[in-house]
Amino acid sequence: MAALKYAGMDDTDSEDELPPGWEERSTKDGWVYYANHEEMKTQWEHPKTGKKKRCAGDLPYGWEQELDDKGQVFYVDHINKRKTYFDPRQAFTIEDVQVKPKRYDGNTAALEILQGQDLSNKVIVITGANSGVGFETARSFALHGAHVILACRNKARSSKAVSLILEEWHKARVEAMTLDLASLRSVQEFAEAFKARKLPLHILVCNAAVSTQPWCLTEDGLESTFQICHLGHFYLVQLLQDVLRRSAPARVVVVSSESHRFTELLDSCGKVDLALLSPPQKEYWSMLAYNRAKLCNILFSNELNRRLSPHGVTSNAVHPGNMMYTSIHRSWWLMTFLFTLARPFTKSMRWVRPSPAQRGNVIMGREARLSKARKLGNKCMLR
Ligand SMILES: NC(=O)c1ccc[n+]([C@@H]2O[C@H](COP(=O)([O-])OP(=O)(O)OC[C@H]3O[C@@H](n4cnc5c(N)ncnc54)[C@H](OP(=O)(O)O)[C@@H]3O)[C@@H](O)[C@H]2O)c1
Repeated sequence: MAALKYAGMDDTDSEDELPPGWEERSTKDGWVYYANHEEMKTQWEHPKTGKKKRCAGDLPYGWEQELDDKGQVFYVDHINKRKTYFDPRQAFTIEDVQVKPKRYDGNTAALEILQGQDLSNKVIVITGANSGVGFETARSFALHGAHVILACRNKARSSKAVSLILEEWHKARVEAMTLDLASLRSVQEFAEAFKARKLPLHILVCNAAVSTQPWCLTEDGLESTFQICHLGHFYLVQLLQDVLRRSAPARVVVVSSESHRFTELLDSCGKVDLALLSPPQKEYWSMLAYNRAKLCNILFSNELNRRLSPHGVTSNAVHPGNMMYTSIHRSWWLMTFLFTLARPFTKSMRWVRPSPAQRGNVIMGREARLSKARKLGNKCMLR
């Protein structure tokens, strides 16, 4: 079990080996077919396994698809100045299995949902990804090939999280960048540093949060739960909006909570009472502050979706599950006690580690596929 298995690419070469006289080719839209040169016939199914396949993703950099005089697709590698009938993406084909629609439930983990997905062309930023829901999300994306950036406030904790993922798959494209949502200056610095790298941004997960912490003001003079859970994210999305739009189709995922139900933001006249968002110490109750910030998350996500979806950027708010044992309760002993009591009955962060042997197999699998691609590419070279 590891990265390429999750992406559905871990089958062995021996099963795929074609009988003599057969050749693997692909159509313009990526479907793989098999040509039997002895009998002069073609078919969609692999002659040994009977499976259908299609090519995943874009052509590698420098390659182009063209049609010959007979209308057959061939590929031009402009960098190495060669032509071939072999589709270079065939190193990463996906089986066309008739999968029954999967049923997900409260026990489904991120890795199961992503099974079979190739995210190698995606750039993903996750806030507060050094622990809990954020870490599990980052790990799952990284093991599916995405370039994942952990946007965290604490360098030591984020480096530890990065090394845990790399330990699992040493080729994971995962890194940490500093972001403290309690400081609008830090949010701005993060956005500038990210933009300076000229990367696209396909998924932004606004996950970081604090709960049940004592009243304190941020350096911007705002109540910290409100700023960390909502306002910091709001500002971050504003600053990265242009990158998201350029990277469309892109999405924002705002991690909210069902606890948004247990509050409201309206005053007695039915108008939004902005004073409730960042209350003074004497009016502060940590749970209420958290619930309000989570309500802001949902309102924000809905409005963002309304404004950006016409430009190819969607936004969704999610509730990840009730009372999952993460670090969210750590600021108040009573919450820690309640989370501990509930732990056996609630969803857990599933943390399945592959054995070193399994990890080795997967890495060998990818290298074997690449060498197969090279071999086949040479065989099918045009004169
Ligand atoms: N656990 C649950 O039962 C539950 C239920 C409903 C919703 N949620 C939501 O799920 C999300 C993830 O929470 P979790 O349960 O995984 O909790 P968690 O393990 O405590 O994760 C929260 C993350 O936010 C980070 N963070 C806190 N303050 C920050 C700041 N100023 N700047 C940047 N990052 C900061 C934390 O970093 P540090 O390690 O540096 O503090 C941590 O990585 C939250 O939005 C939460 O509201 C959780």
